[in-house]
Amino acid sequence: MTEMIIAPSLLSCDFSRIGAEIKEVQEAGAQWLHLDVMDGHFVPNITIGPPVVKALRQATTLFLDTHLMIEEPLKYAKPFAEAGSDLINFHVEISGSPQEVINEIRRLGCKVGITIKPGTPVKSVEKFLDNVDMVLIMSVEPGFGGQKFMPAMLDKVRELRKMMGSEAWIQIDGGITSDNVEDAARAGANIFVAGTAVFGSGDRTGAVAALKKGAAKGAADWIS
Ligand code: DX5
Ligand code: ZN
Repeated sequence: MTEMIIAPSLLSCDFSRIGAEIKEVQEAGAQWLHLDVMDGHFVPNITIGPPVVKALRQATTLFLDTHLMIEEPLKYAKPFAEAGSDLINFHVEISGSPQEVINEIRRLGCKVGITIKPGTPVKSVEKFLDNVDMVLIMSVEPGFGGQKFMPAMLDKVRELRKMMGSEAWIQIDGGITSDNVEDAARAGANIFVAGTAVFGSGDRTGAVAALKKGAAKGAADWIS
């Protein structure tokens, strides 16, 4: 059975109490932690690097989903794998060869994800589908948390679910809230990244529960 997974994005957490934040979302039922890595080149923002991922690895048993929004994933996959990432996810829009990055992440023993920005068609990842564990459809332009969800991205989720079948991991990231998670699940997503909706809420436990509830409702149509 395809599991519905909530992956809070630490980008919106209170970094002064990061350990407590992680504990809270884990206890609330989140299964993954989404780590947004930005290099100031691929996207106009800079966030965390391998030392932070290493510290997080020591603080939690949650699955660490590392989203590399960087120009050179081939160069940096190794330090992120060694830091303890469970999955390394990179963008198909990089200037280098996506297949080489996939091979490198596999060699390092991590699961592999490939991501497309809102302007990139599903077709651009078609030839890699047999070689990756997850596809991420961005539902905002990568770079910043707190942006508005782009509903048109659900067409891409639908298309991908049809292509990949009911067992595949399809992630959606950007502007996910308890109001749109059900639609995203109905379209075929099963991994939901949420930053602001979780860490921007005073009630993190309630926020994770609401996301789980919406996801379960929407999944009923296609889940096996
Ligand atoms: C955007 C990041 C997202 C983002 C999600 O570049 O990849 O993971 O932080 O945050 P919200 O849920 O606030 O859109
Ligand atoms: Zn992300």
